[in-house]
Amino acid sequence: MQSAEPWWHGAVGYEVYIRSFADSNGDGIGDLPGVITKLDYLKWLGVDIVWLTPFYPSPGHDHGYDVSDYCGVASRHGTIGDFDALVSEIHGRGMRVMVDVVPNHTSIEHPWFSSARSDPSGPERQRYIWADPAPDGGPPNNWLSHFGGPAWTLDEASGQYWCHLFLSEQPDLNWRNPAVRDDFDAILQWWMDRGVDGFRVDVAHALIKDAELRDNPQTAPLHDSMHPFEAFAAFDHRHDLDQPSNIEIFERWRQVCGPQQVMLLGEVNAPWPGGMARYVAPGALDQAFFLRPAMMGWDPGLLLQMLRSMHDAAPEGVSWVISNHDRPRPVTRFGGGEAGLQRSLAVTTLFMALGGTPFLYQGEELGLPDGVLRGDHYDPVAIRDGCRTPMPWDAGPYNGFSAGTPWIDSETRPQKQTVASQRDEPSAPLHRYRSLLGLRRSHPDMWQAPLQWLDSADPLVCALRRGSITVVANLSPEPTSFGLDSSGWQIVYSSQEVGSVSNSSDIVLIPAETTLVLKTS
Ligand code: GLC
Ligand code: CA
Repeated sequence: MQSAEPWWHGAVGYEVYIRSFADSNGDGIGDLPGVITKLDYLKWLGVDIVWLTPFYPSPGHDHGYDVSDYCGVASRHGTIGDFDALVSEIHGRGMRVMVDVVPNHTSIEHPWFSSARSDPSGPERQRYIWADPAPDGGPPNNWLSHFGGPAWTLDEASGQYWCHLFLSEQPDLNWRNPAVRDDFDAILQWWMDRGVDGFRVDVAHALIKDAELRDNPQTAPLHDSMHPFEAFAAFDHRHDLDQPSNIEIFERWRQVCGPQQVMLLGEVNAPWPGGMARYVAPGALDQAFFLRPAMMGWDPGLLLQMLRSMHDAAPEGVSWVISNHDRPRPVTRFGGGEAGLQRSLAVTTLFMALGGTPFLYQGEELGLPDGVLRGDHYDPVAIRDGCRTPMPWDAGPYNGFSAGTPWIDSETRPQKQTVASQRDEPSAPLHRYRSLLGLRRSHPDMWQAPLQWLDSADPLVCALRRGSITVVANLSPEPTSFGLDSSGWQIVYSSQEVGSVSNSSDIVLIPAETTLVLKTS
């Protein structure tokens, strides 16, 4: 029997980027036993769902997002016994565990790819997307890889190209092949049998490709100095991304996962709000990450407009993030320093009162700016290293992340950015985030009562009411006042220190770039 209320209703998620979270054995790489040692911290912070990025066997060209065995644990991250222990430790603390599933592509070292490559006429070939060269011998069409260059690599032995929307070491699976669908049903089941509560679905919008592999229309000129992401954005991706039949795959996954109430959360990068909403329509995914706020600089007008329209298109279907392992940290993107922190917390405070599930990325609760790299870059597209430097636990060597030398060479964080120091400092970001999570838990109206937007003349001010709770976000650079329709409201949370906020009768004064949560008595 399924209960009407999904278990994730009201939950807050937390992304653990495993390589950089906690290293238990001094080899410089974060691991599953390391995560176990930090679960009390996550529980104390108020986290409900722990999302683990890939820890599967992988040659590591894309740091684990190139999987060579979907049902195993890479020795660099631990053992399957460690995974089982982690699941039971998470459950023992009343939290849930979500793992990444990477269905768009495998590693070039996956045995499926080896068979497909070695026998062009065999049935295994059809697990991947192969095509003959264009008449000039070049790639079969104009598709680009997100990570630079064509989305095609020539297999000299067979004379055909394989398709890869990411690195050439990440060949794309052919989701039109029923064998691929069957395999992933079994993979989901395998992890469900080990007790996972949810899956984060990598690149969920890209699984099906155009059957005829047609060219994408180009919408802007290309030039040599473009970052790969910019070059990718110079095309209308109508034939490689967001094909309508992607949804059928998730309808099928719902049949596999739904009976056990295992959550399906997609990384979906589709046009918003309507394109996104299709993925979380009844019977498909439960939720999808809305990634735009994690990709943008500080543009509060656009941000609020996006949040409202995305929310209304899928009121319980969105996972809200401004931070993940793929983009510069929001404190840095939103202007750096105290301003960047204030803006980040103002947005996250608003997230806590929207439908769906807010997620924090490790270190976001410390108000971290991007880490500073000392070495060369480690990320194939260079821009994702700053958010992947080790979690700063204390002021010791390598900030207590590892007793050895971390896999990524970055500057040690100042003491005030560490967990140990912030725990002792009541005004530190860590306590502001922790109180926010606690507030959401102790005021279920914030996520449970029907949501009503309140009118605001200023496009940089967004206000909503949910039962006994009103939330007003003033994202403008000026203080403002907001009229409540009655007196008796009390400020129960401010994204800036409460001392700076005054509330007289039915008008509330809100400092610049601040979100307030008010409660009626
Ligand atoms: C997702 C992951 C990213 C990875 C890519 C390819 O966007 O979040 O880290 O590089 O998929 O798997
Ligand atoms: Ca380790």
